[in-house]
Amino acid sequence: MFEGIEGSGKSYHIKNVSNYLKKKKIKFIKIREPGGSINSEKIRKLILNKKSKFDKFTDLLLYMASRNENFHNILLKNNKKKVILIDRFLDSTIAYQHYGMGVNLKIIKYINSLILKKIKVNFTFLNTVNKKNLKLRLKKRKNLNRYDNFNFKFYSKVQNGFLKLAKNKKNYLIIDSNLPIKLNKSIIFNKFKKLI
Ligand code: TMP
Repeated sequence: MFEGIEGSGKSYHIKNVSNYLKKKKIKFIKIREPGGSINSEKIRKLILNKKSKFDKFTDLLLYMASRNENFHNILLKNNKKKVILIDRFLDSTIAYQHYGMGVNLKIIKYINSLILKKIKVNFTFLNTVNKKNLKLRLKKRKNLNRYDNFNFKFYSKVQNGFLKLAKNKKNYLIIDSNLPIKLNKSIIFNKFKKLI
């Protein structure tokens, strides 16, 4: 699982890792959430449309609906058969919907457990970014979705939420994306090769 707030570099790293798997001919799939399967991509368009303005609970249910489609169409079939790389997953829901938006944590955990049943995440790369760099990176992004317009206070809450989830856990690696990207690339690769 590759997690982190906007502009933290997770999409860049997941792409590198997937190129490596391709080169090594190791079977894998790469998806993003929201999105991934055909129906989930439809839901993604709905949620992330700049003009969408849903209640926070509707938001939660849409992310979960997208996840449920992925579970039935992608995850169940490939779990333990291929390497599954996911650009955002369970932690994003807790970080954004609970720590960012204030949705009840128990509800989120309960729906996740209903959808994913016994599927477990093996390892998470959490990409973090400081406020100064976040500002710069967000400015550079061309296709702002509605979350990219949220303020920095919101993103601090979300990132702190991610860090709480990673705290004292062995199956997390926190990547400081304020460091040179090449250095982070090699840190991620070292760990990733061991995992594979
Ligand atoms: P991204 O594809 O650029 O990362 O954008 C996806 C957005 O969706 C991002 O702002 C985080 C948000 N999101 C949630 O709020 N909850 C979730 O459960 C997921 C998967 C994403």
